[in-house]
Amino acid sequence: MQTPRTRPPTFLEARGLRQQARTAGLHPDYWYAVEHSHALRRGQVQEVRFWGRSFALYRGQDGVVRALENRCAHRRLKLSHGEVQGCNLTCIYHGWTYAPDGTVISFAHELFGKPMPTFRIGSFPVRERYGLIWLFPGDPAVSATRGIPDIPELEGPRRWACVPISLRLRCHHSMLIENICDFTHAYLHRKTRPFIDAKLTRYEAQPERVVVEYDTLVGAGPIARLFVDRKRVRTDHMVLAYEYPYQWSNTGDRIKSWCFVLPEDESHCRAFFLFYFDALKIPFTSVPIPQWLLTYVLKVANRVLIGPILAEDAFAVEAEQEGWELHHDAPAAELNPAMVEFQQLTVRRWQEYLEAASRRSMVKAQVQP
Ligand code: FES
Ligand SMILES: [Fe+2]
Repeated sequence: MQTPRTRPPTFLEARGLRQQARTAGLHPDYWYAVEHSHALRRGQVQEVRFWGRSFALYRGQDGVVRALENRCAHRRLKLSHGEVQGCNLTCIYHGWTYAPDGTVISFAHELFGKPMPTFRIGSFPVRERYGLIWLFPGDPAVSATRGIPDIPELEGPRRWACVPISLRLRCHHSMLIENICDFTHAYLHRKTRPFIDAKLTRYEAQPERVVVEYDTLVGAGPIARLFVDRKRVRTDHMVLAYEYPYQWSNTGDRIKSWCFVLPEDESHCRAFFLFYFDALKIPFTSVPIPQWLLTYVLKVANRVLIGPILAEDAFAVEAEQEGWELHHDAPAAELNPAMVEFQQLTVRRWQEYLEAASRRSMVKAQVQP
């Protein structure tokens, strides 16, 4: 096995756009999908991570999900080792119990004659939507004004069928976002063929997003083409966007997707995909798949169609991460002009976050001499 000559740079050491993009974090003042709703039952607790920070995510016996800083105020054990009691979380070691706001409300041992002490750790806003649990790791005051993306197709009685699918990846989040939106990698999918003959027709950078459009044949693979109803959907053009910090795609307003990336640290991320369709037909017929059957069909599609394509992408981005760790000093080579815009957006938002954080800490230092 090759060993790198030096460790990869940090963001502040990075030289050039590519190195900066591969070391930038994602701005914490957004809602991040951290887990599937079904994966956290009442009374369960688990650890989730955002850019090196750890959170204890738990579902109370009332069904509500909450998140606390994953550090007992006492001896700093992870609270995710603990136990859910009602709506509270109890540390496994000495049994200090935390309320949802992070306050210690009881102790499973004597207080040595002292009055009830006051200890508190951080608590973070949590919501559930689209079958996912969302955490706001940034400034809680911003969470009320910053929304989870609205997906009208997934709301209401006539919502489109959707079965979320997720990946755990050993790669930097920017590698995944670029992978999804850069259709020059059709070669990787030459057997599954989710898109072929792609030509970039437009790209546009806006303050918080980059939109790219391709003329391409979508869903040309051996299984997909049986299910896609080409009479109802235009499958020769696709619009995709890096909607910071998320990603979406739209094929003919009938085949859509979102990808929500959770940057766990510099070399690990999770990706939660929502694919939703309004133009699927029963194979070998032109009969639309009835609504009641769609969820089942999508579960099968996740396994036989989408899963194998994503597995190819997962292999490629994890191999890219290995390449980055070994050859981070090698010159960057890029042909797709839209990818430069992606990297600029990632870097700019991270710089804005770091600048704001350093201003905040300077103000704090002035207030607390
Ligand atoms: S370490 Fe958590 S209660 Fe002591
Ligand atoms: Fe791909």
